[in-house]
Amino acid sequence: MSEDGNAEALLQAARRARDRAYAPYSHFPVGAAVESDAGVFAGANVENAAYPTGVCAERVAAASAVSAGARRIAAVAVAGDADGPITPCGQCRQFLSEFGPGMLVVSEGKDGSRGRWILSDLLPEAFGPKDVEPSGR
Ligand code: THU
Repeated sequence: MSEDGNAEALLQAARRARDRAYAPYSHFPVGAAVESDAGVFAGANVENAAYPTGVCAERVAAASAVSAGARRIAAVAVAGDADGPITPCGQCRQFLSEFGPGMLVVSEGKDGSRGRWILSDLLPEAFGPKDVEPSGR
């Protein structure tokens, strides 16, 4: 992320996406937005009557970016429904790491409080593309 103004724009996109969450089971809407090499993409959590089938906002946003042609993600913004900022779940950390282990993670709680991390600090010693390269086996 080049400047903090981008973090504001990304958080705003995440907040807007949160309004479109489909979370009838947890009642915990989440919005996310990623800044990628193909532009900004947002997503919300999409739950399912078969509970484990639901998808987190971060993966919806990242998959939307990648399916539009993105291959690198520089930053992800998350707008959760808790008082404080939430961090992406373990599965989302792994999913995001594929496209930018050094990405900035910014998160905002309902109370407006913010958190800021580097993804590799949230997922140290990550398994990644290098581990499945033929030369590595
Ligand atoms: N959830 C997200 O979308 N992102 C997070 O960072 C944490 C959790 C969703 C999954 C589920 O739909 C609901 O929030 C409650 O866990």
